[in-house]
Amino acid sequence: MAQSVKGTRDLFGNEMGWFLRIEDTARGVFARHGYEEIRTPILEEIEVFKRSVGESSDIVNKEMYEFTDKGGRHVVMRPENTAGVVRAMIQHKLLVNNDPKLLYYIGPMFRYERMQAGRYRQFWQIGAESFGIATPESEAESLLMLMEFLHDLGLKHLSLSINSVGTPECRPAFHAAIRDFFQARETQFCEDCHRRIESNPLRVLDCKVPGCQAALEGHPVITDHLDEASLKHHARLKELLTALGVAFEENPRLVRGLDYYTRTAFEVLSSDLGAQSALLGGGRYDGLVKHLGGPEVPAFGWAIGLDRLAMLMQQLHGNAPQNPPALLIPLGEAASLKALTLARDWWSQGLAIQLDTRGTNLKKALTSANRQGTQLALILGDGELEKGVVSAKDLSAGTQETWLLEEVPARLRNR
Ligand code: HAM
Repeated sequence: MAQSVKGTRDLFGNEMGWFLRIEDTARGVFARHGYEEIRTPILEEIEVFKRSVGESSDIVNKEMYEFTDKGGRHVVMRPENTAGVVRAMIQHKLLVNNDPKLLYYIGPMFRYERMQAGRYRQFWQIGAESFGIATPESEAESLLMLMEFLHDLGLKHLSLSINSVGTPECRPAFHAAIRDFFQARETQFCEDCHRRIESNPLRVLDCKVPGCQAALEGHPVITDHLDEASLKHHARLKELLTALGVAFEENPRLVRGLDYYTRTAFEVLSSDLGAQSALLGGGRYDGLVKHLGGPEVPAFGWAIGLDRLAMLMQQLHGNAPQNPPALLIPLGEAASLKALTLARDWWSQGLAIQLDTRGTNLKKALTSANRQGTQLALILGDGELEKGVVSAKDLSAGTQETWLLEEVPARLRNR
């Protein structure tokens, strides 16, 4: 029997219920902040990610689903969506006159990663990107939106970590300092770190291997190497967050696994997520639009893992809230036609009615309705048809009432 491809899974039932609830909440909050939805293709040219996420990153190096299509194009199933959104902004010339552009997306991403709980090869992200604003205030706004979203979902036990990774101009001095530090302890670092110190020294700070984490004790701190403007930017963001009562901690090892960040980088961790504690991450990426061939436009954004979010919601709140429609069960041919007519009228009034069109007997229909979690069955047999009523059976309470047909819409609304 065919199975879903390793690392991918089907979304249905309760998990789908949480996905929908989370997506609805996100759309509501983001719209209130003036963010518009964008949908970009899953397939992008490989260069889009090589030039943004970075050739030395794990994502580009090891994790991309890449192939050559029948037309000989080298394409990638997007591992993230910031680069794709930037590509779209440039292609459609949407970043003009220095006007701000606020966008969000919801969609699947693909990374060939080792599977764990909460880590998949096809996973979903909700992301928000703001273009055209270089201020720490724009970061505070985006973070407030994020906090509002997480708060509306009722999430707790979250912690916000921030750092500044500076600008490309102040990085050489920091790279030199971290290389000196590394050389003095070379043997304590893993093979990957030896590769990283050559290609992207910042990433050594991010290594999850316990031995490397221990060897990093007393490492040079990038915030000691920031230029004047980056320092001021960082201080202002911290001042704003403090004044707004947004709790955060500074993490000098937070550098993120993607190369495009400048200045602010941040993550939100959840102590309820276990090993996969990063719920979301993001930061400023002022150089990326220009680097991908567009105008010089500053940008800031973040993306949250929807799969992990749904997992947290399940842990915290149990099953997704359900509101199953009433089930209209006609018995016999005359009732079947009447039920179609009635249901059409009730649907047009915005009521949620599921119609049982199988033509089975009442016992079978009710047994299957019980299995499916139906709460209210409206039974329309010959007797009911004659009197112009339905028998309304509350399946969880086991009670039954007779409702006049014309009363049904009002009674359903009042339930
Ligand atoms: P990222 O940190 O690579 O950032 O991914 C963001 C979030 O996506 C993670 O915190 C995690 O919740 C989720 N995620 C990543 N990989 C997986 C996986 N294999 N399975 C399940 N969830 C996963 C970015 O992607 C950036 N584009 C964020 C950003 C937007 N920066 C600026 N704007």
